[in-house]
Amino acid sequence: MKALVLAGGSGTRLRPITHTSAKQLVPVANKPVLFYGLEAIAQTGVREVGLVVGDTHAEIEAAVGDGSAFGLEVTYLRQEAPLGLAHGVLIARDFLGDDDFVMYLGDNFIVGGINELVDRFNTRRPAAQILLTEVSDPKQFGVAELDAQGRVIGLEEKPERPKSDLALVGVYLFSPAVHRAVAELKPSWRGELEITDAIQWLIEEGLDVDSSVISGYWKDTGNVTDMLEVNRLVLESLEPRVEGLVDEASELVGRVVVEPGASVERSRVVGPVILGAGTRIRDSYVGPFTSVGADCLVSDSELDYSIVLQGTSIVGVGRIESSLIGHHVEVTASVNTPKAHRLVLGDHSKVRIGT
Ligand code: DAU
Repeated sequence: MKALVLAGGSGTRLRPITHTSAKQLVPVANKPVLFYGLEAIAQTGVREVGLVVGDTHAEIEAAVGDGSAFGLEVTYLRQEAPLGLAHGVLIARDFLGDDDFVMYLGDNFIVGGINELVDRFNTRRPAAQILLTEVSDPKQFGVAELDAQGRVIGLEEKPERPKSDLALVGVYLFSPAVHRAVAELKPSWRGELEITDAIQWLIEEGLDVDSSVISGYWKDTGNVTDMLEVNRLVLESLEPRVEGLVDEASELVGRVVVEPGASVERSRVVGPVILGAGTRIRDSYVGPFTSVGADCLVSDSELDYSIVLQGTSIVGVGRIESSLIGHHVEVTASVNTPKAHRLVLGDHSKVRIGT
């Protein structure tokens, strides 16, 4: 079995954190979401991975390299435009040959890995195996319709009127039969070759499409609440490790990771918390389920249940909670009176200001 990982797409649909970088590199507990997928693939014993990349290829390649850090052999497959998930399969045709493969969408996160799914596929050997999960907003996903026995009888991509609340999760297992389906596809209303339509084609041909339902699932839909929640879930199993400096006047409580070059001065950190390399925490409090990326500064402030990305400074601002703060952001106190807020915010930013 091989793996096909989709990490292309253009930089325009990205939300909420960044409009400039690859969404597959959005960090969960300071690690790009894509890495969790690659690790899950490596755990199944699959070695050869085709990685579909687009506009943001340089960034993805810099992060993943040749895959050896994951125990994988990565072949980059350049997609000239985001023409759809099934188009990714089309351009990977030579790489995939006649092998079975697991297709993994690089912006999806599945709690607990995919070993069981791969075992199920190898035992049952259907033409395709899909994963479903209950979602509150099915219109944003591929949606499955099941019969009374729980068999999939139809799939629709981002339907106006969803027939269920069971969404397609971005991990699929395919036999080489999918290549026939992909070759027959026409672009959808959104101009993409949809993998959902390819699976629908297999169903209509009477081939066996197996499905199972999971619960621990997340994808970058631009929903901050969900992102904080998945970050919390991953931090729940954080192994404490202090490789940076913690001064005598500071206290670390519970499971805290202090990466090399990070420092904690006159501060209290209550885990689970991860502090990235080179980050400085001074005269501050950092509370549970917080991830602070590399090279940040948190000074004279309180930070709780939040994600802060690389290179950001938060200085003298009191308490920040349930927040997602992007790369290289400056959050500082205003010395001006009368009281006013001065803001420089990127597109689609969301700010809540106490009055
Ligand atoms: O995440 C699950 C959903 O993924 C499924 O429920 C849908 O049925 C499926 O179509 C897909 O929906 P999205 O429209 O949300 O997919 P998105 O454009 O976010 O792309 C998913 C990943 O694949 C992402 O890492 C970017 C990459 N990609 C996407 C396209 C369209 C490519 O590598 N090439 C592409 O052409």
